[in-house]
Amino acid sequence: MAGHMTPEEFRRYGRQVVDWIADYQEKIESYPVLSQARPGDVLANLPAHPPERGEGFDAVLADFDRVVMPGITHWQHPGFFAYFPSNATGPAILGELLSAGLGVQGMLWATSPACTELETRVLDWLAELLDLPGRFRSDGTGGGVIQDSASSAALVAILAALHRVDGGTAGREGITRRHTLYISSQTHSSLEKAAKITGIGSANIRVVDVDPGTLAMDPGHLDALLTEDAAAGALPVMVCATVGTTSTTAVDPVPAVGEVCRRHGVWLHVDAAYAGVAAVCPELRWVNDGLAEYADSYSTNPHKWLLTNFDCNTMWVADRAPLVGALSILPEYLRNQATASGEVIDYRDWQIPLGRRFRALKLWSVIRWYGAEGLREHVRTGVRLARDLASRIAADPRFELLEHHPFGLVCFRPRWDGLADAEADAATMRLMGRLNASGDLYLTHTKAGGRVLLRMAIGSPATGDAHIDAAWQRIRAETAAGG
Ligand SMILES: Cc1ncc(COP(=O)(O)O)c(C=O)c1O
Repeated sequence: MAGHMTPEEFRRYGRQVVDWIADYQEKIESYPVLSQARPGDVLANLPAHPPERGEGFDAVLADFDRVVMPGITHWQHPGFFAYFPSNATGPAILGELLSAGLGVQGMLWATSPACTELETRVLDWLAELLDLPGRFRSDGTGGGVIQDSASSAALVAILAALHRVDGGTAGREGITRRHTLYISSQTHSSLEKAAKITGIGSANIRVVDVDPGTLAMDPGHLDALLTEDAAAGALPVMVCATVGTTSTTAVDPVPAVGEVCRRHGVWLHVDAAYAGVAAVCPELRWVNDGLAEYADSYSTNPHKWLLTNFDCNTMWVADRAPLVGALSILPEYLRNQATASGEVIDYRDWQIPLGRRFRALKLWSVIRWYGAEGLREHVRTGVRLARDLASRIAADPRFELLEHHPFGLVCFRPRWDGLADAEADAATMRLMGRLNASGDLYLTHTKAGGRVLLRMAIGSPATGDAHIDAAWQRIRAETAAGG
């Protein structure tokens, strides 16, 4: 039997791994952005059965290069413009490594006080950096917590809202008191998933109209739906407003939506998964409009644009009582003095699973490494590059630009003069396929106003002017080559 890896062996292989990552960062541009693997390619190179006898770590590293790497899409490549960015930076990776090295499971304060208290402090720091309302801070009625994803944050918000509305019991009392949830056609799909998980059900999701131009939620229609549903005996649970939608970074009018929520006594969750971190820059703090007055819960993802590797969602609530009330269960085996004293936070009561990783370490590393000014600089670079790209698109008569691009995402399409809409959309999709096959860049698409648009999401720390320039030249050339 192979023994456990000794500290000496760990030191040796650990250095190799860190060197490997540093080399990868240096030569990342030599890889095609999008993996060229076909379905089954990676599987075909993996033995069907696990080894009976332990192997050296050299063998793992060799297979990592040979088998795993060809199946990797390079999210940190400066030509990665798909979805939203998923920044992984040196300090974040090292923070993650420290977390893995400690192997701490921080379900309770008592299971590692630092895991809890560092998280509390870092979430207060981030609230300050983003200029979030005081009631989100840990010394107020609310507080912040790290979730694995914005999807979990939305789910947890619904559970807290259900608890506040009626302890979550209405769905079981009969169909006349059904729970309802309010989103728009632009809301992230995780809200529908959360409705299914919580038992609210897809059928009880009410889709609020959006303004056809801005794609922002219509507060008047929200008001009408809430009035109608309450009159029909439903129990409205939560409204989700989005700041920076997934499709086009549309921004719901949070103050107006919040005012409607307040009048109807409904929980307001604000999902700013991608765009919320932009508030590190004072000139972008308008993304927080309405939070202080109206938001019951708020979430944004440092694991997208704020230099912290996946997973790291940050979520705040204005009042922690309904959240803890919804999720706290205390079996005998978790009882301990610190919990009983009421002096500590047990973050297991703020999330779905019991166990939790020490994620605060990587966010702490990032905030300390970059400082407020480094974080601002990163966001500003993304916004500037997006603005530059947008002005080039706007200046080229062969392209149509979606005028709304306040963050790092630019949406556009070739006009394909002479083609009917459906043919033009098909041509845009073919163009995207050719661009992504080139290996130099990777972008994705969406549909807005019934038309296919290309999405170019800028925000990798590696992306600079030259990469945007090269991508734009390629897009123009491929477009000129035809649909
Ligand atoms: C607005 C919005 N909400 C939620 C999510 C889901 O994020 P996560 O992957 O953290 O669950 C996304 C992902 O892009 C998003 O854009």
